[in-house]
Amino acid sequence: MARYEICGGNPLQGSVTISGAKNAAVAILPAALLVKGKCRVENVPDISDVRILLDILADLGADIRYEAPGVVLLDCTNIVSTHPNPELVRKMRASYYLMGALLGRFHKANVALPGGCNFASRPIDQHIKGFAALGADVDENEDYVNLTPGPGGLQGNRISLDVVSVGATVNIMLAAVLLPGQTVIENAAKEPHIVDLANFLNTMGAHISGAGTDTVKIRGVESLQGGTYGIIPDQIEAGTYLAAVAAAGGNVLVRNVIPKHMECITSKLEEMGAKFINYDDAIRVQSDGRLQHTTVKTRPYPGFPTDMQAQICVCMALAEGISRLTESVYETRFFGYCTELASMGADILINGKTAIVTGQKQLKGATVRAHDLRAGAALVIAGLVAEGTTRVENIHFIERGYERLVEKLTALGADIRRIED
Ligand code: EPZ
Repeated sequence: MARYEICGGNPLQGSVTISGAKNAAVAILPAALLVKGKCRVENVPDISDVRILLDILADLGADIRYEAPGVVLLDCTNIVSTHPNPELVRKMRASYYLMGALLGRFHKANVALPGGCNFASRPIDQHIKGFAALGADVDENEDYVNLTPGPGGLQGNRISLDVVSVGATVNIMLAAVLLPGQTVIENAAKEPHIVDLANFLNTMGAHISGAGTDTVKIRGVESLQGGTYGIIPDQIEAGTYLAAVAAAGGNVLVRNVIPKHMECITSKLEEMGAKFINYDDAIRVQSDGRLQHTTVKTRPYPGFPTDMQAQICVCMALAEGISRLTESVYETRFFGYCTELASMGADILINGKTAIVTGQKQLKGATVRAHDLRAGAALVIAGLVAEGTTRVENIHFIERGYERLVEKLTALGADIRRIED
């Protein structure tokens, strides 16, 4: 098993370039299944979730070529199956987007239920509700979802989501874009990666409007043609580096960001004492490492992202005073990392949806385990600041979503090594 070994105490200096957004890439790559032609996708992050997804698409018959670092050419004209390899599907969470894409293109799909980060119960009832509203017969059990056309066939419809769901919004968009008629998704998620998917599909000839608002409208088209599209920068990867500098101290230029996407994160870190300078596509973050307490409540975009909960919790664990962190998307997300942080000396009291974090002057290095992607990232931040050496195990979770993490942190002056047993 591989692990990171981190010697804490170094401030972070220099510049880091953010990769393409994981949560946009894992929606856009399956969307290429809807296109008869070549899709040239740029700024694709080289992370394990993406590599697994591309393996799944190739196994279905897609022609995949790596044109340059971060540039993938996909041709899904000749897809030979609507039953993706279950072993690969179970290796990641976003493989469930194959349901919407295969249903949208071929009007059928037989997809194993996904794996991925299990920090909470992650139902897909809203995805199923959407497929059924579009006219699909849904046969599901604890292992598979099998989708076929219902008696009336598949056509556009109005769907009002019972809960704001990124995954359901994406999956319904994928299923609807080639169906006759109009589909309206109400109570839709507004995350940047929803807008990015809509922009990708529209570049290929779709008619989607309202992405980024709570009502997304899709007018079905006959077919989509190939084209070129660049994925947006990863808001959460960028936020993770901003939190790392805020906690460790330093002065770093974070390149390839969309400052608008970062406002929900920088505003909270600024409250804690970090300083920011915004440029067109970069943010400079400065911190002396001495932070003040604050209160955070996670919310769907444009609120403070749940995917930054663990990272800002580390900042709170080191801040002066008592902070409150309330989770409104996944109630059980705290358990992925708070025990591990406590073994490093953090004082975190979990009370239902809220964690009360009493800041400490110092954390101590320890051997800790990542239990999910963002929890693992938070443990790396804690190791960068802690006194002594921190060993982070189960780093496969982290490498699902952070491209070249050790290389990027080392370039900023961190003392971090990847050890392969
Ligand atoms: C996406 O997960 C992200 N994953 C998650 O990021 C992120 O935490 C989450 O959105 C919220 O922003 C990807 O984009 C691949 P949801 P998703 O559907 O789509 C409930 C990371 O770290 N719900 O928006 O699974 C659900 O239980 C990952 O990059 C239903 O009840 O999240 C949750 O409470 C972790 N029924 C809430 O909605 C459904 O059918 C939001 O979930 C679907 C969701």
